Amino acid sequence: MFAMRNVPFLLLVLTQLLRAGSALDNGLALTPPMGWMSWQRFRCITDCDTFPDECISEKLFRRSADLLVSEGYADVGYEYVIIDDCWLEWNRDNKTNKLVPDRKRFPRGLNVLADHIHAKGLKFGLYQDFGTKTCAGYPGVIDHMALDAETFANWDVDYVKLDGCYANVSDMATGYPEFGRLLNETGRPMVYSCSWPAYQSGSEQPLFEALKRHCNLWRNWADIQDSFQSVMTIADYFANNQDSMQPHAGPGHWNDPDMLILGNYGLSYDQSKLQMAIWAVLAAPLIMSNDLAKVRPEIKEILQNRDVIAVNQDPLGIQGLASTNRT
Ligand SMILES: *[C@@H]1O[C@H](CO)[C@@H](O)[C@H](O)[C@H]1NC(C)=O
Ligand SMILES: *[C@@H]1O[C@H](CO)[C@@H](O)[C@H](O)[C@H]1NC(C)=O
Ligand SMILES: *[C@@H]1O[C@H](CO)[C@@H](O)[C@H](O)[C@H]1NC(C)=O
Repeated sequence: MFAMRNVPFLLLVLTQLLRAGSALDNGLALTPPMGWMSWQRFRCITDCDTFPDECISEKLFRRSADLLVSEGYADVGYEYVIIDDCWLEWNRDNKTNKLVPDRKRFPRGLNVLADHIHAKGLKFGLYQDFGTKTCAGYPGVIDHMALDAETFANWDVDYVKLDGCYANVSDMATGYPEFGRLLNETGRPMVYSCSWPAYQSGSEQPLFEALKRHCNLWRNWADIQDSFQSVMTIADYFANNQDSMQPHAGPGHWNDPDMLILGNYGLSYDQSKLQMAIWAVLAAPLIMSNDLAKVRPEIKEILQNRDVIAVNQDPLGIQGLASTNRT
C-alpha cells in the first residue's frame, strides 16, 4: 500500500535519481566537506628559521592534525587536513618531471605526512594550480596533468584544491574537467575542489552544469581575508547571486564561499557566530584556517556547536536562501 508518509522518502529518491545523471559521481562530499587548511592564517610563510611554528612544513600539518583530534574538532566532523600553496620546490624533478615537495620543509616527502594524518583517522588534502604556476609562483599542473594526478594518488591524497592563477580563463572550461577525468583514472577517490568560477566571475556567468558534473565544490568568489568586511562582502555576493547559484548545490557538489576565519584576529565574538551561522545555512564547506593551538575556548565552542554543524551537514544538502526583501 502506498502510504502518504512515504511520499517525502520517494521524493528524495526521485530527486537523487534525477541528479545522478548530471553530477560528479565519485561518492565523495555527500555533505559539505569539513576540515582545516593553511592559507588564510599561514599564507606562504616559508622561513622556518624565523617562524618555526608557522612556516608551511610537515611540522605545521602534523601539529594541526593532532590538534584536530585532541581539541575535539574531529569528533564533530572536521576531517580534511589540507596543505595550501607553497609546499613545493621551485622546480620539478629534472629527470622525472615530478612535482617535488620542498626538501627542507617536507624532508621526508608527503607520504609520511599522509600516513600520520590517516593514522589519526583524518584525510589528506593538497593544493595545486591549473596554470603554468601556482599563485605563489611554484610549478603548476598544466603541462603535466596526467603525471601530477598520478603523483597525487601515489601520495595518498584524498582531496585536491586546484587553483587558477597563471592560466587563461578561456581554457578552464576544458582544462578543469580534463584534470578531474585524470584524477578519476587514477582509481583513488579524491574530492575535487575547483577554483574556476572565481576567475570567471565578473566577466562571464559560471557554467554551473559543467561545474556540477566535474567538481565536488567550487570557489565562487574572491579569497576571504581576516576581517568582518570580507565575510560580509562574500555573504552579499552569495545573496545577490543566489538565484543562479543556489539550485546547483547538493550532495557531492557545493558552492564554496571560502574558509572559516573564526579563531584569528579579525572577528569579534558575535561576528564569529555570524560567519559560522551564514556558512552553515549556505551548506558551505566548513574548512577552518586558524592556529588550532590558539583558538580561544569561546570561539572553539562556536566552531564545535553540534546544532549549527547539523544544519550545515543536513543530508538533503539544500543551500539556504537570503530573504528577498533584505535591505
Ligand atoms: C634542475 O634544473 C634547474 C633549471 O635548469 C636548476 O636550477 C636546478 O638546480 C636543477 N635541479 C636539480 C636537482 O638538479
Ligand atoms: C594564454 O593564451 C595565450 C594565447 O594562446 C598564450 O600565449 C599564453 O601563453 C597563455 N597563458 C597562459 C598562462 O597559459
Ligand atoms: C570515476 O568515475 C566513475 C563514473 O562516474 C565513478 O563511478 C567512479 O566511482 C569514479 N572513480 C573515482 C576513483 O573517482
